[in-house]
Amino acid sequence: MEAYAILKSMSENQDTSEAEQEQPKPSLLEQATAVLKANDRGNYTVPAEDLYPHQWLWDSCFISIGLRWLDIDRAQAEVTSLLRGQWANGMMPNMIFSEDPHYNRDRAYWRSWVNPYSPDKVATSGITQPPMVAEAVWQIGQRLNAAERRAWYKQMLPSLIAYHSWLYADRDPHQEGLVLQVHPWETGLENTPPWMAELHEHLMPWWVRAIRSTHTEGIVGLFRRDTHYIPPGQRFSTLEILTLFDAQRRLRRKAYDTSKILSHGLFAIEDLTYNCIFIRANTRLREIAKAVRYELSSVLLENMEKSEHALENLWDEYAKSYWSRDFITHRLLKQPSIASLMPLYAGTITKERAAVLVRQLENDQKFGPVYPVPSVPLDSPAFDPDRYWQGPSWLNTNWLICEGLKQYGYHDHAAALRETSLEMVNKSGFAEYFDPTTGEPLGAHNFSWTAALTIDMLRSKH
Ligand code: GLC
Repeated sequence: MEAYAILKSMSENQDTSEAEQEQPKPSLLEQATAVLKANDRGNYTVPAEDLYPHQWLWDSCFISIGLRWLDIDRAQAEVTSLLRGQWANGMMPNMIFSEDPHYNRDRAYWRSWVNPYSPDKVATSGITQPPMVAEAVWQIGQRLNAAERRAWYKQMLPSLIAYHSWLYADRDPHQEGLVLQVHPWETGLENTPPWMAELHEHLMPWWVRAIRSTHTEGIVGLFRRDTHYIPPGQRFSTLEILTLFDAQRRLRRKAYDTSKILSHGLFAIEDLTYNCIFIRANTRLREIAKAVRYELSSVLLENMEKSEHALENLWDEYAKSYWSRDFITHRLLKQPSIASLMPLYAGTITKERAAVLVRQLENDQKFGPVYPVPSVPLDSPAFDPDRYWQGPSWLNTNWLICEGLKQYGYHDHAAALRETSLEMVNKSGFAEYFDPTTGEPLGAHNFSWTAALTIDMLRSKH
């Protein structure tokens, strides 16, 4: 019986008889499976109980990469359930809301129905997230036999093409090959330093500045939902969260229409992590199309090629680093973060460039503490070992970096990173993120992508 089915039957049988109490501690694989089971909501998985009660786009992709080892049908359902939320213009929202009436407020806050392309049957957010879907589809495909794989790819191809085409049509208005993001939530690395620096400089509304100057954020912070579950030092600051919600309201007022958003001067960034994930997703999409002998349009193929060249415009020869870029001014946003390693995952940079990035990964003053890979390098003034994407290590970025290292032939580095990731989880459980200096657990407990990628790291070893 597959591990997932065993755990399912274990959790259905709540009796803890004496014999069961004597059972040895479950293996890491069994524990990870139990986390996914507990967070399973039928055909999708919530990232974590309480704090994240909806379906998230890139979470479900990572989750399906773990589920493919346990129950392939369930892994496919995790991805196809995302299509419920896809907009008629191809956009895939970062959140599909739970239908539980308890969350009416979240749905009403986003009001996806203000945009004519949003789906009728489900409420979603109005922004997207890193496009991991093609990777997830491809990874699931690797666990299917040839006939099943072709059927799976054929089923998913139209939605993938629509999503990637939307990204080019809507998010690359100057046809530069780089796609822009309109809100930090779209990057998946919300409070990452380059975005927070822009936010503080350009986006903080007057009333948030007033709270700052009157030092009343402590009082306002009492109304936050997230800090009921997680200590405030591990999340955004209250000023940041207020600014993020204000930025979201401005997008809603423009009905989440990118051209209106841009014409009103709301800020836009060509995020490095996002674009690297997109480049890799394009490679996967070409492989998927090839496997079913489908010819992608020449427009899409040309755009994909343009993206690979455009990534080079983000390289800074002086700092020997890639950076995100301001969409309007083309200014490089030189705040160090884990994004600078993501071109390894994109897989299109030269071997020489990859070697430069690997040296940074090896450097224990930068990305090489005891429990790597920190979301901000240790020598950056913005580094904080506890705070969300401003220092802690996360399993999903470790997984992306492992994939990148393998592509460039750094198999020993990838194996070492996989081992320290598993060690961290073994020591501290399936935390949302970890202190990179001590490996201590931070954020939500029993976090789904930590569990799923643990499974993938354990199983793809063999
Ligand atoms: C956090 C993460 C984001 C993730 C979401 C749900 O906001 O920063 O990347 O998608 O939680 O897990």
